[in-house]
Amino acid sequence: MTPASKSRKRVLSGMRPTGKLHLGNYVGALQNWVRMQDEYECFFCVVDWHALTTDYADTSQVKSNSLEAAFDFLAAGLDPERSVIFLQSHIPAHAELHLLLSMITPLGWLERVPTYKEQRENIRDKDLGTYGFLGYPVLQAADILAYKADVVPVGEDQVAHIELTREIARRFNGFYGTGQPVFPEPQSLLTPSPRLPGTDGRKMSKSYGNAILLADPEPVVRQKLKTMVTDPARVRRSDPGNPDVCPVGDLHKIFSSKETMAKVNEGCRSAGIGCIECKGWAADALVSLLNPMQERRRKYEENPRLAWDILEDGTRRASAAAAETMKDVRAAMEMSLDYEAPKVAQQ
Ligand code: TRP
Ligand code: SF4
Repeated sequence: MTPASKSRKRVLSGMRPTGKLHLGNYVGALQNWVRMQDEYECFFCVVDWHALTTDYADTSQVKSNSLEAAFDFLAAGLDPERSVIFLQSHIPAHAELHLLLSMITPLGWLERVPTYKEQRENIRDKDLGTYGFLGYPVLQAADILAYKADVVPVGEDQVAHIELTREIARRFNGFYGTGQPVFPEPQSLLTPSPRLPGTDGRKMSKSYGNAILLADPEPVVRQKLKTMVTDPARVRRSDPGNPDVCPVGDLHKIFSSKETMAKVNEGCRSAGIGCIECKGWAADALVSLLNPMQERRRKYEENPRLAWDILEDGTRRASAAAAETMKDVRAAMEMSLDYEAPKVAQQ
């Protein structure tokens, strides 16, 4: 490791493989990850084992979804030269650390996690009364602590998981850290991301069927914009509207230039422009954002082996980093692989 990379703080984040990623995934996570590459030593993980916590009964899509996620990571601008991009299931150390951390994690901590309660109540079509689902945050803690990550960029909904990771790290250090802590307590880095509406005006989400995908070709983007809901007060072309209450207006705020935004504000409020024209400008902004991504994506779609090779290289680099941590963990717990004469208990 070069001195330069040692002095940089280490970042780890993960994303569950759900198939092709959408604009919400980009503004909520990927865009920030791409920026962080300049400043931090970065590890980005496709957490395919986490996908199994809910989709354990049918694993047929997991691998292709993981590969799609990798395509989108690379398309969005994660650079395999600067970041370690890898699949969780390729690194057995995550499982070993998950097991060890599970020994010291009180059940009550897990039962109190807000996402646990919420999902048990909301997801009715799958039986989430499993050991693995309850342990989701322990596996996430293992992902983070296996690299002794300093910083974890996440969305608001994940803050409780990072807090739990800190508590588990503290408890581990308390039990086994002789003098100095084994694990640093990671900080979550909240990236304030604007609410990104989908085509129906609700939060963009794969499960709502309202998403614009990073891989959507231009005609699809334009078609989706055409069907997007607008300010309901603008019924006729002659009715003035308000971009602040219009989902298309939200897209402009996030993706359009100041000049376009000014034209939208003026034209919408004075009924000087029509919604069709306005949506066309929003589509222009999206297309110019997505074009370079799709250009990069094409190379991997045509030859998926290239993406797989990047993941394999990531596996090598992530394994080496996790192995260093696991050496410390085993030593702290007196479970090192080296032979030691058995201690005889004092009388
Ligand atoms: N639970 C995270 C999510 O649903 C995904 C995740 C798994 C993660 N392991 C992680 C995020 C480690 C950050 C760090 O978004
Ligand atoms: Fe929305 Fe644009 Fe129509 Fe105004 S002109 S209501 S911002 S789509």
